[in-house]
Amino acid sequence: MSTGRLRAGVVGCGPIAQRGHLPGLLRSKRVQLAAVADLDPKVLEKTAKRFHVQKTFTDYKDMLREKLDLVHICVPNNLHARIATDVMQHGCNVLVEKPLATSVEDARQMVKIADETKVTLCEAKQWRYIPAVQKALALYNAGRLGKLVSMLAQWHTDIPLTWSHAEWYYDPQKSGGGIVSDIGIHMLDLLLLFGGPVKRVSASGGDYLGTMGFDTSVQALLEFKGGGTGFLDVSWLSPYSKLLDIVGTAGIATVDMQYYSLLHANYSRNPMRDFFHDARKVLSTGRRVLNKDFFDSLPALYAALIDDLAESIVTGKPPPISGEMAIPERHDVHSAKRPCCRGQPPETTRHHRRAHQDRLRKSMYRHPSWRLRQRRGKHPKGSGKNGRTSSRLRCVRSDGQSC
Ligand SMILES: NC(=O)c1ccc[n+]([C@@H]2O[C@H](COP(=O)([O-])OP(=O)(O)OC[C@H]3O[C@@H](n4cnc5c(N)ncnc54)[C@H](O)[C@@H]3O)[C@@H](O)[C@H]2O)c1
Repeated sequence: MSTGRLRAGVVGCGPIAQRGHLPGLLRSKRVQLAAVADLDPKVLEKTAKRFHVQKTFTDYKDMLREKLDLVHICVPNNLHARIATDVMQHGCNVLVEKPLATSVEDARQMVKIADETKVTLCEAKQWRYIPAVQKALALYNAGRLGKLVSMLAQWHTDIPLTWSHAEWYYDPQKSGGGIVSDIGIHMLDLLLLFGGPVKRVSASGGDYLGTMGFDTSVQALLEFKGGGTGFLDVSWLSPYSKLLDIVGTAGIATVDMQYYSLLHANYSRNPMRDFFHDARKVLSTGRRVLNKDFFDSLPALYAALIDDLAESIVTGKPPPISGEMAIPERHDVHSAKRPCCRGQPPETTRHHRRAHQDRLRKSMYRHPSWRLRQRRGKHPKGSGKNGRTSSRLRCVRSDGQSC
């Protein structure tokens, strides 16, 4: 292994590489960007110009000859296992985008190969590096919140159309499932970071509007082995909300993950405390707007993750998000969810249904994957853009059965 900064290569130069990994590598103090690979030569050309990379490859296997210490895998989910296996068998450490793999069996196999080849395998979950989350964790570890009573990790947002127009996101075979494999996995990471190993999981959710063929809303209750519970609440159906609440016997920490603010109350809340907290939130948001971090926070979070990983590669310590950690959480929620999904979805008002339909009409039905599904007859005319959308809600299990 080289001395000084580690040399990294990136496989896949789509949105997450452009917005997270590549700028994160440019900011990293411990790792330098040495090469990139992508199937699309145009994407490679643009990436090379934007990030000043000399070495570009259309086949990632050719990139592996570059004596790299670390390879970032930023390709569609169904390719993670195969490419990570090739890289590890080549003797290189890997940072794999979430989810580690599309199936638990593949993820276990990856962990086994990492052990056999003695390389570091780490999953990319960058939201734990939000400074307010780190501060809350420091308070918790120092005992300032007391014993854990309960947690809430909530993320409601739009379907990822504004992020990428890649079709694999809408194919459960390729994505590995719905919302849990996508944003749910990030919030689960935060629950596990505080709560530790899980004893029992119960969950509910599904294809809430019955139109997508994958889970768009999931709620899960985790009971931690060490005591306390964590509630996961994620959907692709509502206006934006992203927060983490940690309730302990000696205090409460609330992280607003949109504004990166932390409210810590060790006795009770009062108006003055809330006023100063809100004032601090406005000031720090203003600062983040001025230094542009507010609009693009991923580079800083990825730089922190990359530096943390580099430290563990150099010192031989376990990586920040190990393969073993990545496996049980998603498996538990998925397997717990199916039986619970038999229940009726919560009642919604006509106003909610109309709001959802408007949002869907504006975004989803314009997407090529929706038209493809219509052409294949998966969504008959009259159920979508070309007709009236049914206002009856339906809950569908991941195996496609109505429940
Ligand atoms: N951590 C996060 O917050 C976060 C956010 C978004 C996406 N992701 C994850 O990042 C990964 C990529 O997401 P994306 O939105 O950038 O996907 P994308 O499909 O938009 O882009 C993927 C890129 O990989 C390239 N590619 C595909 N197969 C390849 C191969 N065999 N060799 C080399 N390049 C190849 C494609 O040409 C494309 O440029 C996914 O696993 C996704 O789940 C993580």
